[in-house]
Amino acid sequence: MTDISAQRPEQVVVCKWNPELIGSLLDSGLDVYVVLDDFDVDHMHPDWELLGRAARVYRVSEFDSLEEISAVAADLSLRGVSGDRIISFTEFSQFGAGYLAILLGGQGDPLRHVAYRDKRLMKQRVAAAGVRTAAWASLPDPNDQQDVAAVCERLAFPLVVKPVSGGGAIGTFTVHSPDELASKLAAIGPIPIVKSRQLIAEEFVTGRELHIDAVWDGDEPLFLVVSAYFMTRLTVLEGIAHIPEAGLPLDGSTVINAEDDPELYRRVLDLHRQVNRALGIERAVTHLEVFQRPDGELVFSEIATRLGGGWIPPLLGEATGLEVHHALGQALVTGKLPAPRPSRRHLGALHLRPAAPGRITAIPSVETMLAMDGVLRAQPLRGVGDVVDLSHASEWCVFVVLGADTADEFDALVERVGREFRVEVGPVE
Ligand SMILES: Nc1ncnc2c1ncn2[C@@H]1O[C@H](COP(=O)(O)OP(=O)(O)OP(=O)(O)O)[C@@H](O)[C@H]1O
Ligand SMILES: [Mg+2]
Repeated sequence: MTDISAQRPEQVVVCKWNPELIGSLLDSGLDVYVVLDDFDVDHMHPDWELLGRAARVYRVSEFDSLEEISAVAADLSLRGVSGDRIISFTEFSQFGAGYLAILLGGQGDPLRHVAYRDKRLMKQRVAAAGVRTAAWASLPDPNDQQDVAAVCERLAFPLVVKPVSGGGAIGTFTVHSPDELASKLAAIGPIPIVKSRQLIAEEFVTGRELHIDAVWDGDEPLFLVVSAYFMTRLTVLEGIAHIPEAGLPLDGSTVINAEDDPELYRRVLDLHRQVNRALGIERAVTHLEVFQRPDGELVFSEIATRLGGGWIPPLLGEATGLEVHHALGQALVTGKLPAPRPSRRHLGALHLRPAAPGRITAIPSVETMLAMDGVLRAQPLRGVGDVVDLSHASEWCVFVVLGADTADEFDALVERVGREFRVEVGPVE
């Protein structure tokens, strides 16, 4: 939830710890209110000296706690802080930030932020605006046989089934028949990270999967970049489940340059504007996912009003030539962004993971990775001794951002990085 009003605010509320974002807002002379959750405090090493310059720092156990967000809202309200200046760049703070905005009176439609997270409400609103989406049906109770029968009646198999407001493709699976749907639903256990047990079923859309990362000032993107995942997120998820037979799926994405495919950019921009109008997105950072079917047609998949996850922030750093959190925070406040200056003609990023589950015995060092020509950024998120269980597509290990001058050089670089930088594992004793 990153919409804020058009005028430059004097106060801004930031949800979750991010040093560049909070630092840049503090430097611009705003009163900055910060809400941190237990994860930030326990694991993200917040800089308390920097936070000492904030107007106030609130702590909540998690952003999904109505009681704690209400207490934050009450205290902000006593201080005269309104709800149209809330910046939330992470998935885990989206519901809390939206609720805070409602409590502080900054948002007309109380379901607006829910439509940025619940895939059913999102698709219903986007489809009503004339944008093509997958046919879908709701499974509010996966054990309710009538709900399941209605899905089988309304939709054509194969289907993709997933939590209504999940993330990172966690808990997502495909089914090819009513029998398979019934057996997989019966076997569903608790899904990590996700709280609601409600599911959505969608008809399977074929084609390549694009992600579009943008920052908006009304109808105009201050920045918009279209990228293509090397393989769809679901292919990666299913690939991990089936290695070693199938080999390790290529996980990452590559930026498509506007000058290489102006027609795609024109169509994406049209679609994006329709989606924004349908969902009330005005000044916001967005991460949109779209399928491009083999016949070229674009099909809306989903949108988030936050930065993309995984390797996307460092990739955007190279695509804009800017420090992303700093620049996007400023753009939300001022409506301005310096002209993007991509660092290389062809850019992309890879996520490296081990070829099997286990305890990490070797992981390439940042120095080794940066020493390879074309490796622009390297970010290990794990170290020797950590356990990787390959249970989901967003169990991040190492991000590598790559750049080259020609498409052929870029492809060769992707292949070389995948071959030379290995995350090795041994048994978990
Ligand atoms: N209808 C569909 N047809 C084909 N593939 C789909 C469909 N819906 C989802 N997928 C695949 O499953 C992945 C996860 O689905 P989706 O993006 O809707 O959920 P998510 O878990 O919120 O994603 P994110 O990783 O962006 O947080 C998609 O990236 C895509 O590869
Ligand atoms: Mg997604």
